[in-house]
Amino acid sequence: MTEQDKSSVIKDIIEAYPADRRFALAALQDMQHEFNYIPEEGLGQLADYLGCPQAQLYSMATFYKALSLTPKGEHIVKICNGTACHLRGSMNLATALKKELGIDPGQTCEDGSFSVELVNCLGSCALAPVMLVDGVYHNKLRVEQVPGIIDSYRAKGGAQND
Ligand code: FES
Repeated sequence: MTEQDKSSVIKDIIEAYPADRRFALAALQDMQHEFNYIPEEGLGQLADYLGCPQAQLYSMATFYKALSLTPKGEHIVKICNGTACHLRGSMNLATALKKELGIDPGQTCEDGSFSVELVNCLGSCALAPVMLVDGVYHNKLRVEQVPGIIDSYRAKGGAQND
């Protein structure tokens, strides 16, 4: 996508909403969905459209975990580190992922294939430890299952469910 195309897509996203600050989050979510992150120019164009300081939108974009100012991987791996999962070895899963992907939680592979995040309780404590990949739960997960799961997503290519 050229810079001009990107700017035009951003414009379409923004102008789908009234020029009212209460729609700022919705527009940011749409940008996140479209680009897999929120481009800097997206913040600028939205600030101009809404007539608000860009810093206000920046704060929003950094506050919400679902929003990112840097591109995320095609596949998003979330390791639950809530109490039940932590006690059942979620950090061992993080270590297995590091071995498999070479990244720590909070990072994205250089080739843009995977991002790994540590998250709070995913509401499935009885099935701990839990890992979520592209929205799909992998429950009662054992460390030795991690490489196979990652391979299956590698084989799929880009994220199927975003
Ligand atoms: S602590 Fe992991 S699902 Fe609740």
